[in-house]
Amino acid sequence: MIIEAHAKVNLSLEVLGERSDGYHALRSIILPISLSDTLEIIESPSLTCDSGFADDLCLKAARILDPNRGATIHVSKRIPVGGGLGGGSADAAATLIALNEIWGLHRSRDELAKIGSLVGSDVPALVLGGAVLMEGRGEVVTRLLGIPALDLVLVNPGVFSSTREVYANCRSRAALDDDARVCKLVQAMSNGDLCGVSELMTNDLQDPAISLHPEIRVAFEALQSHGVVGALMSGSGSTVFGIVENAAQGLDISRNLGKAGFWAQSVRTMP
Ligand code: C5P
Repeated sequence: MIIEAHAKVNLSLEVLGERSDGYHALRSIILPISLSDTLEIIESPSLTCDSGFADDLCLKAARILDPNRGATIHVSKRIPVGGGLGGGSADAAATLIALNEIWGLHRSRDELAKIGSLVGSDVPALVLGGAVLMEGRGEVVTRLLGIPALDLVLVNPGVFSSTREVYANCRSRAALDDDARVCKLVQAMSNGDLCGVSELMTNDLQDPAISLHPEIRVAFEALQSHGVVGALMSGSGSTVFGIVENAAQGLDISRNLGKAGFWAQSVRTMP
Protein backbone atom coordinates (compact mmCIF):
# COMPACT_ATOMS: atom_id res chain seq x y z
CA MET A 1 0.00 0.00 0.00
CA ILE A 2 1.19 3.51 -0.81
CA ILE A 3 0.12 6.29 1.58
CA GLU A 4 0.94 10.00 1.81
CA ALA A 5 1.99 11.23 5.28
CA HIS A 6 1.06 14.90 5.39
CA ALA A 7 3.10 17.41 7.39
CA LYS A 8 1.38 20.00 9.63
CA VAL A 9 1.72 23.56 10.79
CA ASN A 10 0.58 24.88 14.17
CA LEU A 11 -1.49 28.00 13.58
CA SER A 12 -1.50 28.48 17.32
CA LEU A 13 0.48 26.87 20.13
CA GLU A 14 -0.11 28.03 23.71
CA VAL A 15 1.92 26.40 26.48
CA LEU A 16 -0.36 26.41 29.54
CA GLY A 17 1.79 24.74 32.19
CA GLU A 18 4.12 21.95 33.20
CA ARG A 19 2.58 18.57 33.98
CA SER A 20 3.71 16.04 36.55
CA ASP A 21 4.67 13.60 33.73
CA GLY A 22 7.34 16.00 32.43
CA TYR A 23 5.23 17.15 29.45
CA HIS A 24 3.54 20.52 29.01
CA ALA A 25 -0.21 21.19 28.86
CA LEU A 26 -1.02 22.73 25.47
CA ARG A 27 -3.72 24.41 23.45
CA SER A 28 -2.84 24.23 19.78
CA ILE A 29 -4.46 24.31 16.36
CA ILE A 30 -2.91 21.91 13.87
CA LEU A 31 -3.51 22.09 10.12
CA PRO A 32 -2.22 19.35 7.81
CA ILE A 33 -0.55 20.68 4.66
CA SER A 34 0.03 19.42 1.12
CA LEU A 35 3.75 18.68 1.75
CA SER A 36 4.10 14.96 2.48
CA ASP A 37 6.40 11.98 2.84
CA THR A 38 5.38 8.91 0.83
CA LEU A 39 5.25 5.55 2.62
CA GLU A 40 5.17 2.21 0.84
CA ILE A 41 4.11 -0.56 3.22
CA ILE A 42 3.81 -4.28 2.58
CA GLU A 43 3.11 -7.13 4.99
CA SER A 44 6.16 -9.31 5.69
CA PRO A 45 7.37 -11.81 8.34
CA SER A 46 9.47 -9.23 10.27
CA LEU A 47 9.13 -5.49 10.94
CA THR A 48 11.60 -3.14 9.21
CA CYS A 49 11.74 0.51 8.17
CA ASP A 50 14.41 2.20 6.03
CA SER A 51 13.97 5.75 7.43
CA GLY A 52 17.45 5.56 8.98
CA PHE A 53 16.33 7.01 12.34
CA ALA A 54 17.35 5.06 15.45
CA ASP A 55 14.14 6.12 17.25
CA ASP A 56 11.92 5.63 14.19
CA LEU A 57 8.29 6.48 14.98
CA CYS A 58 6.88 4.18 12.23
CA LEU A 59 8.43 1.16 13.99
CA LYS A 60 7.22 2.38 17.38
CA ALA A 61 3.67 2.85 16.01
CA ALA A 62 3.64 -0.58 14.34
CA ARG A 63 4.87 -2.33 17.50
CA ILE A 64 2.22 -0.65 19.66
CA LEU A 65 -0.54 -1.44 17.13
CA ASP A 66 0.35 -5.15 17.06
CA PRO A 67 3.70 -6.43 18.42
CA ASN A 68 3.23 -9.84 16.78
CA ARG A 69 3.01 -8.83 13.12
CA GLY A 70 5.52 -7.73 10.50
CA ALA A 71 5.75 -5.22 7.67
CA THR A 72 8.35 -3.63 5.41
CA ILE A 73 8.06 0.16 5.50
CA HIS A 74 9.82 2.28 2.86
CA VAL A 75 9.84 6.04 3.50
CA SER A 76 10.50 8.65 0.77
CA LYS A 77 11.33 11.68 2.89
CA ARG A 78 10.42 15.23 1.78
CA ILE A 79 9.41 16.82 5.10
CA PRO A 80 12.45 18.52 6.73
CA VAL A 81 13.62 16.74 9.89
CA GLY A 82 13.72 18.76 13.14
CA GLY A 83 11.64 21.39 11.37
CA GLY A 84 8.47 21.62 13.50
CA LEU A 85 6.35 20.22 10.65
CA GLY A 86 5.60 16.91 12.40
CA GLY A 87 7.31 14.71 9.80
CA GLY A 88 8.08 11.78 12.13
CA SER A 89 4.60 12.01 13.68
CA ALA A 90 2.95 12.15 10.23
CA ASP A 91 4.87 9.02 9.18
CA ALA A 92 3.71 7.27 12.38
CA ALA A 93 0.08 8.34 11.83
CA ALA A 94 0.15 7.08 8.22
CA THR A 95 1.72 3.80 9.41
CA LEU A 96 -1.13 3.26 11.91
CA ILE A 97 -3.79 3.98 9.26
CA ALA A 98 -2.14 1.74 6.64
CA LEU A 99 -1.31 -1.21 8.93
CA ASN A 100 -4.83 -1.14 10.40
CA GLU A 101 -6.03 -1.98 6.88
CA ILE A 102 -3.17 -4.25 5.80
CA TRP A 103 -3.39 -6.32 9.00
CA GLY A 104 -7.24 -6.27 8.94
CA LEU A 105 -7.54 -4.93 12.50
CA HIS A 106 -10.77 -2.90 12.05
CA ARG A 107 -9.79 -0.20 14.57
CA SER A 108 -11.75 3.07 14.31
CA ARG A 109 -9.98 6.40 13.68
CA ASP A 110 -10.62 7.37 17.32
CA GLU A 111 -9.02 4.12 18.53
CA LEU A 112 -6.03 4.71 16.23
CA ALA A 113 -5.72 8.27 17.58
CA LYS A 114 -5.61 6.88 21.15
CA ILE A 115 -2.89 4.41 20.14
CA GLY A 116 -1.11 7.33 18.41
CA SER A 117 -0.91 9.22 21.71
CA LEU A 118 1.43 6.46 22.97
CA VAL A 119 3.71 7.14 19.99
CA GLY A 120 4.05 10.94 20.20
CA SER A 121 2.12 14.07 21.18
CA ASP A 122 1.30 15.18 17.61
CA VAL A 123 0.26 11.74 16.34
CA PRO A 124 -3.43 11.73 17.47
CA ALA A 125 -4.18 14.99 15.60
CA LEU A 126 -2.49 13.70 12.44
CA VAL A 127 -4.39 10.38 12.63
CA LEU A 128 -7.69 12.31 12.76
CA GLY A 129 -6.66 14.52 9.83
CA GLY A 130 -8.02 17.95 8.88
CA ALA A 131 -7.95 20.99 11.16
CA VAL A 132 -7.73 19.89 14.79
CA LEU A 133 -7.76 21.62 18.19
CA MET A 134 -5.22 19.78 20.32
CA GLU A 135 -5.27 19.93 24.14
CA GLY A 136 -3.81 18.05 27.11
CA ARG A 137 -0.31 17.03 26.08
CA GLY A 138 -1.73 16.42 22.60
CA GLU A 139 -4.03 13.46 23.26
CA VAL A 140 -7.30 15.47 23.54
CA VAL A 141 -8.23 16.16 19.92
CA THR A 142 -11.28 17.89 18.46
CA ARG A 143 -11.86 18.21 14.71
CA LEU A 144 -12.62 21.72 13.47
CA LEU A 145 -15.06 21.55 10.57
CA GLY A 146 -15.74 24.01 7.75
CA ILE A 147 -12.28 25.62 7.73
CA PRO A 148 -11.35 26.93 4.25
CA ALA A 149 -7.89 26.11 2.88
CA LEU A 150 -5.03 28.55 3.45
CA ASP A 151 -2.15 29.15 1.03
CA LEU A 152 1.19 29.21 2.84
CA VAL A 153 4.89 29.56 2.14
CA LEU A 154 7.23 27.45 4.27
CA VAL A 155 10.81 28.54 4.92
CA ASN A 156 13.29 26.31 6.70
CA PRO A 157 16.58 27.87 7.81
CA GLY A 158 18.41 24.52 7.72
CA VAL A 159 18.87 24.05 11.47
CA PHE A 160 17.64 21.07 13.50
CA SER A 161 15.47 22.27 16.39
CA SER A 162 15.09 19.74 19.24
CA THR A 163 11.51 19.72 20.59
CA ARG A 164 12.69 18.63 24.02
CA GLU A 165 15.28 21.43 24.19
CA VAL A 166 12.82 24.13 23.07
CA TYR A 167 10.20 23.08 25.65
CA ALA A 168 12.90 23.07 28.34
CA ASN A 169 13.69 26.69 27.37
CA CYS A 170 10.04 27.82 27.45
CA ARG A 171 8.03 29.55 30.20
CA SER A 172 4.36 28.64 30.52
CA ARG A 173 1.48 31.12 30.32
CA ALA A 174 -0.41 32.24 33.44
CA ALA A 175 -2.64 29.51 34.85
CA LEU A 176 -5.73 31.70 34.39
CA ASP A 177 -5.22 32.05 30.66
CA ASP A 178 -8.49 31.14 28.88
CA ASP A 179 -9.44 29.99 25.40
CA ALA A 180 -10.78 33.36 24.18
CA ARG A 181 -7.93 33.87 21.74
CA VAL A 182 -8.21 30.43 20.17
CA CYS A 183 -12.01 30.82 19.80
CA LYS A 184 -11.51 34.13 17.94
CA LEU A 185 -8.84 32.48 15.79
CA VAL A 186 -11.18 29.61 14.82
CA GLN A 187 -13.84 32.22 13.92
CA ALA A 188 -11.37 34.13 11.74
CA MET A 189 -10.28 30.84 10.08
CA SER A 190 -13.91 29.90 9.37
CA ASN A 191 -14.54 33.34 7.82
CA GLY A 192 -11.42 33.11 5.62
CA ASP A 193 -10.27 36.35 7.31
CA LEU A 194 -6.51 36.23 6.58
CA CYS A 195 -5.71 39.46 8.48
CA GLY A 196 -7.67 38.27 11.52
CA VAL A 197 -5.91 34.89 11.43
CA SER A 198 -2.53 36.60 11.15
CA GLU A 199 -3.22 38.88 14.14
CA LEU A 200 -4.49 36.07 16.35
CA MET A 201 -2.04 33.28 15.51
CA THR A 202 0.64 32.77 18.16
CA ASN A 203 3.34 30.32 19.17
CA ASP A 204 4.76 30.32 22.72
CA LEU A 205 7.72 28.23 21.52
CA GLN A 206 8.86 30.81 18.96
CA ASP A 207 10.96 33.06 21.24
CA PRO A 208 12.59 30.11 23.09
CA ALA A 209 13.44 28.48 19.73
CA ILE A 210 14.87 31.73 18.31
CA SER A 211 17.03 32.20 21.40
CA LEU A 212 18.49 28.72 20.76
CA HIS A 213 18.68 29.12 16.95
CA PRO A 214 18.93 32.76 15.76
CA GLU A 215 18.77 31.44 12.15
CA ILE A 216 15.00 31.09 12.67
CA ARG A 217 14.71 34.88 13.03
CA VAL A 218 16.57 35.31 9.73
CA ALA A 219 14.04 33.03 7.96
CA PHE A 220 11.19 34.88 9.68
CA GLU A 221 12.43 38.29 8.56
CA ALA A 222 13.06 37.03 5.01
CA LEU A 223 9.41 35.94 4.80
CA GLN A 224 8.12 39.21 6.22
CA SER A 225 10.21 41.22 3.77
CA HIS A 226 8.33 39.48 0.93
CA GLY A 227 5.01 40.96 2.01
CA VAL A 228 3.21 37.92 3.46
CA VAL A 229 -0.04 38.64 5.34
CA GLY A 230 1.40 37.12 8.52
CA ALA A 231 4.28 34.85 9.59
CA LEU A 232 4.81 32.40 12.45
CA MET A 233 7.12 29.56 13.43
CA SER A 234 5.52 26.08 13.33
CA GLY A 235 5.66 23.80 16.40
CA SER A 236 9.08 23.82 18.04
CA GLY A 237 10.73 25.08 14.82
CA SER A 238 12.80 25.52 12.86
CA THR A 239 10.37 26.06 9.94
CA VAL A 240 8.55 29.38 9.63
CA PHE A 241 5.40 29.78 7.52
CA GLY A 242 3.84 32.82 5.91
CA ILE A 243 0.16 33.25 5.04
CA VAL A 244 -0.29 34.47 1.46
CA GLU A 245 -3.29 35.69 -0.55
CA ASN A 246 -3.19 32.85 -3.10
CA ALA A 247 -1.09 29.99 -4.50
CA ALA A 248 0.45 32.14 -7.28
CA GLN A 249 1.82 34.62 -4.72
CA GLY A 250 3.07 31.70 -2.62
CA LEU A 251 4.91 30.20 -5.58
CA ASP A 252 6.46 33.54 -6.44
CA ILE A 253 7.70 34.14 -2.87
CA SER A 254 8.99 30.58 -2.46
CA ARG A 255 10.97 30.87 -5.73
CA ASN A 256 12.57 34.14 -4.57
CA LEU A 257 13.44 32.70 -1.15
CA GLY A 258 14.84 29.59 -2.85
CA LYS A 259 17.12 31.82 -4.94
CA ALA A 260 18.25 33.51 -1.70
CA GLY A 261 19.43 30.08 -0.48
CA PHE A 262 16.54 29.02 1.76
CA TRP A 263 14.64 25.75 1.59
CA ALA A 264 11.25 27.21 0.66
CA GLN A 265 7.97 25.63 -0.50
CA SER A 266 4.56 26.89 -1.45
CA VAL A 267 1.88 24.67 0.17
CA ARG A 268 -1.84 24.57 0.93
CA THR A 269 -3.64 23.39 4.06
CA MET A 270 -5.73 20.23 3.71
CA PRO A 271 -9.50 19.96 4.40
O1 C5P B 1 5.62 13.57 22.45
P1 C5P B 1 6.90 13.84 21.75
O2 C5P B 1 7.82 12.65 21.77
O3 C5P B 1 6.72 14.41 20.39
O4 C5P B 1 7.62 14.98 22.59
C1 C5P B 1 8.98 15.28 22.47
C2 C5P B 1 9.42 16.11 23.66
O5 C5P B 1 8.78 17.38 23.62
C3 C5P B 1 9.02 15.52 25.00
O6 C5P B 1 10.00 14.63 25.46
C4 C5P B 1 8.92 16.75 25.87
O7 C5P B 1 10.20 17.16 26.31
C5 C5P B 1 8.41 17.82 24.91
N1 C5P B 1 6.94 17.98 24.99
C6 C5P B 1 6.38 18.60 26.08
N2 C5P B 1 5.01 18.75 26.14
C7 C5P B 1 4.22 18.32 25.12
C8 C5P B 1 4.78 17.71 23.99
C9 C5P B 1 6.16 17.54 23.95
O8 C5P B 1 7.07 19.02 27.01
N3 C5P B 1 2.90 18.50 25.21
